[in-house]
Amino acid sequence: MAYLRMRGITKMYPENNVLANAEVDFEVRRNEIHALVGENGAGKSTLMKILYGLERPDRGGIELEGRPVHIGSPLEAGRLGIGMVHQHFRLIPDFTIAENVVLGVEPVRRGLFLDREKAQASVRAVIQEYGFSIDPSLRVRELTVGQMQVVEIIKILYRRAQLLILDEPTSVLTAQQIQKLFLTLRHLRDIGKTVIIITHKLGEVKEISERVTVMRAGRVVAVRDTAEVDERELSRLMVGKAASLQVRREPAARGRAVLELRQVCLLGRGQDHPLLDRVDLTVHAGELVGVAGVGGNGLAELEDVVSGLRRVSSGRILHDGQEITRLDARELRRRGLAYVPADRLHRGSSLTSSVMENMIIASHHRFLRGGVLRRRQAEGFASRLAERFSIEGDPRVPIGTLSGGNIQKVILARELASRTDFILFSEPTWGLDVASSEFIYERIMEIRGQGLAILLLSSNLDEILSLADTLVVMYRGRVVARLANSGAVSKELVGEYMLGLKEDRP
Ligand SMILES: Nc1ncnc2c1ncn2[C@@H]1O[C@H](COP(=O)(O)OP(=O)(O)OP(=O)(O)O)[C@@H](O)[C@H]1O
Ligand SMILES: [Mg+2]
Repeated sequence: MAYLRMRGITKMYPENNVLANAEVDFEVRRNEIHALVGENGAGKSTLMKILYGLERPDRGGIELEGRPVHIGSPLEAGRLGIGMVHQHFRLIPDFTIAENVVLGVEPVRRGLFLDREKAQASVRAVIQEYGFSIDPSLRVRELTVGQMQVVEIIKILYRRAQLLILDEPTSVLTAQQIQKLFLTLRHLRDIGKTVIIITHKLGEVKEISERVTVMRAGRVVAVRDTAEVDERELSRLMVGKAASLQVRREPAARGRAVLELRQVCLLGRGQDHPLLDRVDLTVHAGELVGVAGVGGNGLAELEDVVSGLRRVSSGRILHDGQEITRLDARELRRRGLAYVPADRLHRGSSLTSSVMENMIIASHHRFLRGGVLRRRQAEGFASRLAERFSIEGDPRVPIGTLSGGNIQKVILARELASRTDFILFSEPTWGLDVASSEFIYERIMEIRGQGLAILLLSSNLDEILSLADTLVVMYRGRVVARLANSGAVSKELVGEYMLGLKEDRP
């Protein structure tokens, strides 16, 4: 018998007339890990928000263990043993782990005040019970994304969830963090929990799930035992045809040096080695330099210093031969350096502003006359971008009403359209489906052809190997290889550098 059964779920968003779920039937067995897949905007998050009581369906019903249930709010979902980790984390950076975990169900002292000690003790007990290792007194702002994820999971386990919903939990994790998460999920399943996981990575579906449900344009198009489908078939089911990532890379016409890092160092507190260790890097006009590395080896720090969010400890950064080492993010943007952050929601967008406003942030001076926004021009610009990047919906709606993948496309579209000679991409296709990724790759190749200098930081080796002219590998904060991506460079070779098994001292 099904543990969870959703029947005939239909949901239309009146704000934009999008039919996000159309007569969806969805079943999950007790004690299974069930994957939910589909392209950006297919309706996955909506279905899960309905299950978690965040959205109300127009029609349809939910049964839990054969009993019809009404789920009007996350609180009611919680009482029924349902917990959800959202596509975008909702932790409060200035609170400790314990404070975040107990938020809403805090133990209080004398009926009024948060009982800090009790909160910490009870959170510590849950951490031990499930075999996590993390200190509940740490503040969330000090954590890595992998740890934040763990906190989100602890948060729902603290509420005694039986059914855990994870919306794209792996899109911001490194390969090792993903393996850790999967160990946790298997353990949870083994002790009797049920897991629903949304992901775009079909390899992960194969690896972690027992069954898989595929959605397309608001409908369920297939339910399979995972062992009986391969990745190719899954992607065919998702998009209606077999999709494979293919990029055409014309030879580069390399120009002047646009961005140069010279002996850049970044020291971390309490680290045995520098986070960035004498990094030399040059990106020329018309060249795409791809930096590969396993998480924790300096990619995130490289992103921070090149984008001006963190000051280097020593060394210099030059743009067109001029020193920009001490400029902050705002000043760099004014100079025309574009940046697509890995953490697009916090660094890249304002969720309550409209799609249009988010699109013109980088270039709004183009739409000002005498300090007044020329609304019609701005809207026209936004509509054209939306159309080119196949972003659904009206550009006047808040960007927060778009699906996760479409929010990312808005930011990518904006940065790709800004007039600049340099652009930094960090993990440009995190959270994007195959078709959108391919589209983004084509745009990247296009701007490279126009002579932009591009620095691409990515944990996705296939991405780097198919896009980069020059390949740089980082290990423990150092550049350990710099290779021309001639086609003779294999994934295995790059992998050896990434793991520190091999090193050229350039
Ligand atoms: N709050 C909202 N208001 C209006 N429309 C919405 C809202 N949330 C989602 N939608 C629309 O419903 C459709 C389905 O969105 P949903 O977030 O469920 O997709 P998804 O499958 O999770 O996609 P992704 O992989 O990009 O996260 C999209 O067209 C989206 O724009
Ligand atoms: Mg989603």
